[in-house]
Amino acid sequence: MHWAGHPELADRFAAAVHDFAERGVSWPAAAVAVVGPESEPQSHSEPQSHSKPQSQSEPELQPQSEPEGRPESGPAPESGSRRGPSNHDLDHHGDAELGEGLVDLAVNVRVRNPPEWLADTIAATIDRLAAYPDPAAAIRAVADAHPLGAHPLGAHPLEAHPLGAHPLERGAGDPITHVLPTAGAAEAFTLIARAFTPVYPVVVHPQFTEPEAALRAAGHTVHRVLLDPADGFRLDPALVPDRADLVVIGNPTNPTSVLHPRQLIRALARPGRVLVVDEAFMDAVPGEPETLLDGSPLDGVLVLRSLTKTWGVAGLRAGYVVGDPAAIGRLRGQQPPWSTSTPALAVIEATLTPKARELATEAAVELGGWRRELVHGLGSLGLPVAGEPRGPFVLVDAHAWERAGEPPGRLRRTLRQRGFAVRRCDTFPGLDAGWIRIAVRDPETTRALLDTVRAIRTSEGDRP
Ligand SMILES: Cc1ncc(COP(=O)(O)O)c(C=O)c1O
Repeated sequence: MHWAGHPELADRFAAAVHDFAERGVSWPAAAVAVVGPESEPQSHSEPQSHSKPQSQSEPELQPQSEPEGRPESGPAPESGSRRGPSNHDLDHHGDAELGEGLVDLAVNVRVRNPPEWLADTIAATIDRLAAYPDPAAAIRAVADAHPLGAHPLGAHPLEAHPLGAHPLERGAGDPITHVLPTAGAAEAFTLIARAFTPVYPVVVHPQFTEPEAALRAAGHTVHRVLLDPADGFRLDPALVPDRADLVVIGNPTNPTSVLHPRQLIRALARPGRVLVVDEAFMDAVPGEPETLLDGSPLDGVLVLRSLTKTWGVAGLRAGYVVGDPAAIGRLRGQQPPWSTSTPALAVIEATLTPKARELATEAAVELGGWRRELVHGLGSLGLPVAGEPRGPFVLVDAHAWERAGEPPGRLRRTLRQRGFAVRRCDTFPGLDAGWIRIAVRDPETTRALLDTVRAIRTSEGDRP
């Protein structure tokens, strides 16, 4: 293989030499490194206070092995393993918390079933299932919902990819090259991990663990930037090292529910870097004020969207990526043919009409009111919520509920015994078992949860 045809290899080699010269060590042996200010590693045998700044250096978290969680022990992972050496179970997701008879506060899907009109749309695709999927209408729907800003083609650091152009034409010979339908947002992480060869990929944590898992599975050495609970998990772009050539951040972020201002996210974009912004929950924020899909240029930027949560179709796998045509072309080059099914494409098309987007906004406004009740109720029961939550879930500081001599995660376990499944957080880099994530539900469910927490407190003599 000659470098002439693979400029990214030359870039990678140059950066690696730079890295070697700078640090005087060979390439990292560990598969995960952490960047950020040095500080004392935190102790995980002691409950933490929300107000205490959490270490920015990656602690070797050992999430508690419990019946409903996956065990976290054993030898260091091999290269290409999805699991990090700090032993976080990056494959643990909220659905693993569910159980017979438990109220689901662990999974962030808004509704139990898709609305009837959407179910009808999906059912109507049965007649077309003999044919291979045709993404044209879905691509057009995405392009209409999120028009791409002026893109100085040719000025971009990513070289044009032969697969960058898509045959789909819009108007007078204007190909739609900035949109890629995917089998849920999750597929995009794998495509990204396979499409690029970053020397210094950075994942901003705490966040959804799939991006790191996918990067690791593709053999990349992942570097973590940990945001600080004492600062409400807000983004400080200066924490991301200049040499990061691929950066992944969620907005609003799962599990912190923090909505980062778009100018801070934009500050992460720069020539020579791919910036991946996971906006899977952006449609749960009324008006989407901080989306990067506001018509501005997306040079080097990939924005991921999910339709599974708001519309109750997680089992169908529907999502898409909008971004820099050159980068989208690379993803397309990695995507298996017909990856997004005909029913999923129909969901994309149907949920991006102006009417459907209006319905999503109404649902988001209603959810905001429900969230306020939940946050207020939890706070009055000694359970502060991190930051200023803007997503359909809240991150709760339950460290005060921990007891010396008992395994961490006491409140979560107690709630489980009383019929409520909440999301453990010790599988998220940057968090530990003293945090729990709770989905925002209707007022009746929230009241039932708060009554239960109150009853637990009373039975324990009003501690904490
Ligand atoms: C932040 C975030 N991004 C992406 C996804 C994946 O979504 P999808 O169902 O569209 O694959 C999830 C799923 O939980 C998520 O929490």
